[in-house]
Amino acid sequence: MDIMIAVQDACVSGQWLTAIILSLCCFLPSCLPAGQTVDYSSVESVVSRQGDTALLRCYLLDGISKGAWLNRSSIIFAGNDKWSVDPRVSIVSSVGDKHEYSLQIQKVDVTDDGQYTCSIQSERNPRPKLLNLIVKVPPKIYDISSDITVNEGSNVSLICTASGKPEPAISWRHITPLARKYDSGEYLNITGITRDQAGDYECSALNDIASPDTKTVKVTVNFAPSIHEMKSHGVGLGRTALLRCEAAAVPSPTFEWYKGEKRIIKGQGIDIKSLSSRSVLTVTNMTEDRYGNYTCVASNKLGTANASVPLIPIIEPTTTSAVSSPGQYMSPCCTPNQQRGPLPHTNLSRNPLLHLDLFQLAG
Ligand SMILES: *[C@@H]1O[C@H](CO)[C@@H](O)[C@H](O)[C@H]1NC(C)=O
Ligand SMILES: *[C@@H]1O[C@H](CO)[C@@H](O)[C@H](O)[C@H]1NC(C)=O
Ligand SMILES: *[C@@H]1O[C@H](CO)[C@@H](O)[C@H](O)[C@H]1NC(C)=O
Ligand SMILES: *[C@@H]1O[C@H](CO)[C@@H](O)[C@H](O)[C@H]1NC(C)=O
Ligand SMILES: *[C@@H]1O[C@H](CO)[C@@H](O)[C@H](O)[C@H]1NC(C)=O
Ligand SMILES: *[C@@H]1O[C@H](CO)[C@@H](O)[C@H](O)[C@H]1NC(C)=O
Ligand SMILES: *[C@@H]1O[C@H](CO)[C@@H](O)[C@H](O)[C@H]1NC(C)=O
Repeated sequence: MDIMIAVQDACVSGQWLTAIILSLCCFLPSCLPAGQTVDYSSVESVVSRQGDTALLRCYLLDGISKGAWLNRSSIIFAGNDKWSVDPRVSIVSSVGDKHEYSLQIQKVDVTDDGQYTCSIQSERNPRPKLLNLIVKVPPKIYDISSDITVNEGSNVSLICTASGKPEPAISWRHITPLARKYDSGEYLNITGITRDQAGDYECSALNDIASPDTKTVKVTVNFAPSIHEMKSHGVGLGRTALLRCEAAAVPSPTFEWYKGEKRIIKGQGIDIKSLSSRSVLTVTNMTEDRYGNYTCVASNKLGTANASVPLIPIIEPTTTSAVSSPGQYMSPCCTPNQQRGPLPHTNLSRNPLLHLDLFQLAG
C-alpha cells in the first residue's frame, strides 16, 4: 500500500520513470496520502502576461537526477517524455553546471493560471518545487455607451465595462480644461445635466499589468437659444449700418430679423449673414426710413429668444479726433470711406439721452 515504498523500490531497481510517476502521484491533490503535506509557504510566483511565453524555472541537482513537471491535475512532462498534448509546452534544458529543467509555456492564457510542480527525483526521495503561475490580462473596454444627445436638465447614465485580470478599476473623466474626475465605477450618472457638462467623457480601465485602455463618449446637451449680444452702431445717411446678434443654443439656432413687426428679407441693400451662433444684418446706403427698432429672433427646436436694438442716426464727426472715449466701440467696419463712429450703446433698451450724448460728442 505505501506509495513511498513503491517509489523507493522503483528507484532502487533503476525504473526511474515508474518512480517518478509514482512520486508525482503524491503531489496530485487527488492522491496525496493522508497526513502528508506540502510546504506551500515556499511557493514561488511567476507572473506572465496573457499571450507571452512563461518560463517556470527548475534545476536538477546533477546530471543523473530526473525531473518531472505536473499541472494541478495532470503530468505534463516525466523526464523528457511529454505527457501533455498541448503543443505550447516544452522543456528548456541546458547542460552545464546548472542542469536546467524548466517548463516553457507559449502564449499563456488565463486557463494556464495555477500551481505547477517541478518534481526532482534524486537519491531516494522526491523533492517538489512548487510554482504558482499568475497570468495577467491587460484591461480592455468591451462595452461603452454610445454617443448621446439629451436636453438640458435630463438625467444621464453612462456605462463602461471592461475585462482584465486583475479586474480593472474603471474611472470617468470629463475632457475639459478642468478635466473633472468623477467617482470611479462602471456607471457615470449625472442628474440634471447642464450645458457646460456637454462634451467628451473618457472611460479609463486600469490594472497593474499594462497601460489603461480608454474610450470616450460624446454627450451633446441641447438647450434653447438665449441671445447674449445684440449690437448696432449709429450710422449717418448713406453709410453702411451693421447689426450683430449672438445667441447660444444647441442645436445651432436659425436667425430671423424684424424691423418693428415686419420681417426683413435680403435684398435691396440689405444683407443677412448667419453663422452657427451669430447673425449680422448689413444695411448698405442707409436711408431715413431704415432707422428704427430692429429685432433679432433666434430659434431652435427647443425654443425661441429675441432681442431688440434701435438703429439711430448719427451726425458724423467733422474731425477724426472727435471719437473714442472709454466704453465706446470702434467699428470694425467696412468700406474705406466709412468713419469710425462710437457705438451708441451696448444696453439693449433704448436710452433717450443717447441722442444728446452723441450730438454733444459729435459737436
Ligand atoms: C493545466 O491544467 C488545466 C486544467 O487541467 C488545463 O486547462 C491547462 O491547459 C493545463 N496547462 C498546461 C500548461 O498544461
Ligand atoms: C432625475 O433624477 C432625480 C433624482 O434622482 C429625480 O428626482 C428626477 O425625477 C429625475 N428626472 C428625470 C427626468 O428622470
Ligand atoms: C446609475 O444608474 C444606473 C442605471 O441608471 C443604476 O443602475 C446605478 O445604480 C446608478 N449608480 C449610482 C452610483 O447612482
Ligand atoms: C422694439 O421691438 C420689440 C419687438 O417688436 C418690442 O418688444 C420693443 O418694445 C421695441 N423697443 C422699442 C424701444 O421700441
Ligand atoms: C443711396 O440711396 C439713395 C436714395 O435711394 C440713392 O439716391 C443713392 O444713389 C444711393 N447710393 C448708393 C451708393 O447706392
Ligand atoms: C419676443 O419675445 C417676447 C417674449 O419673450 C414675445 O412676446 C414676442 O412675441 C417676441 N417677438 C418676436 C418678434 O418673436
Ligand atoms: C440700460 O439702461 C436702462 C436705462 O436706460 C437702465 O435702467 C438699465 O440698468 C441699463 N441696463 C444695463 C445692463 O446697463
